[in-house]
Amino acid sequence: MELSRRTVIAGAAAAGITAATTGGTAHAKGGGPTKSLFGKLADGTKVHRWSLANGGTRMQVLSYGGIVQSLEIPDRRGRYANVSLGFDTIEEYVASSPYFGALIGRYGNRIDKGRFTLDGTTYQLSVNDGENSLHGGAQGFDKRIWDIEPFTHGTDVGLRLHYTSADGEMGYPGTLRTQVTYTLTRHGDWRIDYEATTDKPTVVNLTNHVYFNLAGESSGTVYDHELSIDASRYTPVDAGLIPTGELARVAGTPFDFRRAKTVGRDIRVAHQQLLYGQGLDHNWVLDKGITTRPGHAATLRDPSSGRTMRIATTEPGLQFYSGNFLDGTLVGTGGTVYRQGDGLCLETQHFPDSPNKPGFPSTVLRPGQTYRTTTVHSFSA
Ligand code: GLA
Repeated sequence: MELSRRTVIAGAAAAGITAATTGGTAHAKGGGPTKSLFGKLADGTKVHRWSLANGGTRMQVLSYGGIVQSLEIPDRRGRYANVSLGFDTIEEYVASSPYFGALIGRYGNRIDKGRFTLDGTTYQLSVNDGENSLHGGAQGFDKRIWDIEPFTHGTDVGLRLHYTSADGEMGYPGTLRTQVTYTLTRHGDWRIDYEATTDKPTVVNLTNHVYFNLAGESSGTVYDHELSIDASRYTPVDAGLIPTGELARVAGTPFDFRRAKTVGRDIRVAHQQLLYGQGLDHNWVLDKGITTRPGHAATLRDPSSGRTMRIATTEPGLQFYSGNFLDGTLVGTGGTVYRQGDGLCLETQHFPDSPNKPGFPSTVLRPGQTYRTTTVHSFSA
């Protein structure tokens, strides 16, 4: 049976539990977001952690990378779990994070050889993934300190995160003024609104890199999660995970998630594309295309807990990464080692390497324009 969020909360209240007191960590007890010191960078810069809660969802966000350090939602019996992989300390985030929970910019995913040409000028970006540029380069938005402003607006509770990326940073042209808004709604939805402006023509593709495990981080792999993606095509890649430019049909391949199937069902099929990514690490071409309002993209469900997440977005693509490069060398917030497949990312975005693929939807932003995209994660159990 699928319980609505309201039923879960009513059930928890009836059991004498409030959203603020279940679970182990400190949280905003209703009202607005609260802030505490999380740690310091090597140069002494303070990193704060913001805690917010609304509609039964609780979240903790760091000023470093806009990182979602924890995301807690109830199961069908009202029991909370942290469904986002992460670390306990700032030192671990700085030293070894594979983008856990982070904001990604200026460009989500890979740009071939870190190079592109715009209006006749060729730009060389920071190269940090073999010969390619990944997630904005060596010092992307995931490693920057964001200015954070809390807000409560009507029944919404949230954070506004600001970062200004200087002209030429990581090789990208233009001063990029970026605002990302994390909102928790009264229904417990987590909404992300991205906005950016530039003073020179540039490219931009912002996303978020939460690794989800709806059974709770540190509970093992996500291979038994059921996933559906509203996409008839995906973008096949070469050995360096750069799209070939083709929009291939998913029908008859391991990439067909049009009907819900478990993440693990086809992950060991001997398919060249799965060998390249050591699993699933591809961009799905959402059937709905670019939309002005968020349209449904994917649904993820953990059958054991009943926790279900629906993702809606204005973006045309979804990078589904099945945590292939987690290799048993990191210890997460739950105190266990993260191994391959212990979490998965569903990154709403434009397609990888669009600046070099004239056939893909454009990621160009020009002075006077405002980049605006929205993604909503809705939870139920
Ligand atoms: C993205 C990429 C993956 C990998 C992860 C981070 O999802 O597509 O190839 O780089 O980020 O480890």
